[in-house]
Amino acid sequence: MKRLIDKLYETQSLDISEYRELISGRNDELSDYLFSLSREVREKYYGKSVYIRGLIEYTNYCKNDCYYCGIRRSNKNVSRYRLDKNDIMSCCKEGYELGFRTFVLQGGEDPYFTDERMCGIISDIKNNYPDCALTLSIGEKSRESYKAFFDAGADRYLLRHETADCVHYGKLHPQELSPENRKRCLYDLKEIGYQVGTGFMVGSPFQSAETLAKDMIFLKELQPSMVGIGPFISHKDTPFADKPSGTLELTLFMLGLIRLTLPYALIPSTTALGTIAPNGRELGLKAGANVIMPNLSPVEVRKKYMLYDNKICTGEESAQCIECLKNRVSSVGYEIVTARGDAANYIKNQR
Ligand code: SAM
Ligand code: FES
Repeated sequence: MKRLIDKLYETQSLDISEYRELISGRNDELSDYLFSLSREVREKYYGKSVYIRGLIEYTNYCKNDCYYCGIRRSNKNVSRYRLDKNDIMSCCKEGYELGFRTFVLQGGEDPYFTDERMCGIISDIKNNYPDCALTLSIGEKSRESYKAFFDAGADRYLLRHETADCVHYGKLHPQELSPENRKRCLYDLKEIGYQVGTGFMVGSPFQSAETLAKDMIFLKELQPSMVGIGPFISHKDTPFADKPSGTLELTLFMLGLIRLTLPYALIPSTTALGTIAPNGRELGLKAGANVIMPNLSPVEVRKKYMLYDNKICTGEESAQCIECLKNRVSSVGYEIVTARGDAANYIKNQR
């Protein structure tokens, strides 16, 4: 099995049966070996730096009904909110002062935010903070909408593919959502010129070593700049309320595999990882992650953006959160930096 990890380290690639074999045959010793190499690769390209992204959860209205997600439209227990442009600009101001040079606008798929409204928000942020990168994570849109957001100034886009296996996709989503459209979105975003991020939940219901191996092949094919993975965590008001959550152990293992497969990738150590284990995000950094995405949303709305149960950092002010994170990051020998934090292979004049 070590032989497969060596092969991945040397060639950045395995075939589907090799990924499957590694995932299903993993053990603690193999994981430690993997992490020693994934850390080495991460430090080769990014040193000890950890980039921070200020996450602004600007709406929890969503027209979709994904079976796993706490803010799905059928969840009538959610108290819905939207931030207006002024609220969003205040989050950016606070974030800029705290050292953030990337803002991420994330939300449910909320029809209130028409292309025109979005473009207004995007250009305001970019005019006020020209030295910052702006990332969108607002779901599936038409190619024309993606192009309009890009022309208004958006630099990056996060859209997890969720699972690369079509049958598995159908078990996580209602019929109106299709894996083909999700992938179409990702390729459109790439062609338009965004730095694209994708990813998946680890331990989602009905996932297997086979579907995870397909995820790895898909990542290799898409070549995203960013890959976000985190454990699936059940939410009490969803159809998956009784499904077991994903594990820290498997999430870290997948993180290590992703670092070796895509050495330049920007990989966050996610809030979900910090939710399933108190030191989850620190362990994520030690397995090859190099990004953290603290919450910049106003404290009043944080508890309303509950994608899963027991989400952390919903009671803290942004300043408290960043202080806490600085300590956590330095406890494992890394350092939070103030920088846009583009991928190490990204050429600036691409835009
Ligand atoms: N609407 C946008 C989209 O679909 O990409 C962005 C928001 S969506 C809530 C962000 C991500 O949260 C999803 O891609 C999904 O992977 C993750 N997520 C949703 N429910 C989750 C759960 N129960 N456990 C872990 N992650 C979850
Ligand atoms: Fe938010 Fe620690 S990172 S409180």
